[in-house]
Amino acid sequence: MKKKLIAGNWKMNGGLASNEALLNGLLAGLQQAPACDVALAVPAPYFAQVSAKVAGSAIALAAQDVSAHASGAYTGETSSVMLQDFGVRYALVGHSERRQYHGESDGVVAEKARQALAAGITPVVCVGETLQEREAGQTEAVVKRQLAAVIHVNGHCISEIVVAYEPVWAIGTGRTATPEQAQQVHAVLRAQLAAASAHADRIRIVYGGSMNAANAAELLAQPDIDGGLVGGASLKAEDFLKIIAAAR
Ligand code: 13P
Repeated sequence: MKKKLIAGNWKMNGGLASNEALLNGLLAGLQQAPACDVALAVPAPYFAQVSAKVAGSAIALAAQDVSAHASGAYTGETSSVMLQDFGVRYALVGHSERRQYHGESDGVVAEKARQALAAGITPVVCVGETLQEREAGQTEAVVKRQLAAVIHVNGHCISEIVVAYEPVWAIGTGRTATPEQAQQVHAVLRAQLAAASAHADRIRIVYGGSMNAANAAELLAQPDIDGGLVGGASLKAEDFLKIIAAAR
């Protein structure tokens, strides 16, 4: 059976001193190997700090974004090969905050996934509908369109990705999708992956959106929820450790 993946997304939070304290707390709590895979998507300036700190532990390093280009005149961007230099294992692509605030299209997200895969980094492809789209009955169509773009560009590599279902209305709002709502969308995504890959059951589909220590176990018990992408609750060692413990 595939291991679940619990990934923390620190977003634009942290600092040298607070990272040190948070990581000390996590490492102390993870002395016994967890049943799931664990990753932390940290701001790029802290890759060196975090990668040195988590070396030899159960925590893998993740990036919050990656450039759609290999190298060159793209001021402010970070290439997948640069991520590789720091031992980055996963890269989020198409997080709703990138789609919303940085205008990332489905096509750009697909190219980012391609760049990550080319460098041996697992893209965590984020999909999810807004509240307005959900209320208009467009949830399935939206997530399928977002995933289809990545499948189209990445073809046979598709079994190497992680998919994250993050309903936009549940991000940072304290309003979590119910386990049934999340499972329903995960099943749709699984079927879409199965149509594209013989190894769809191997692909992890994780849930994100106000996952916390209290609701993680119920979400993670759903048949097609293979882990979590955790924002706010990943900034507190105690909460994040509880979510990790709930993933078995
Ligand atoms: P919250 O857990 O803070 O809702 O954030 C979810 C998220 O966007 C993770 O990528």
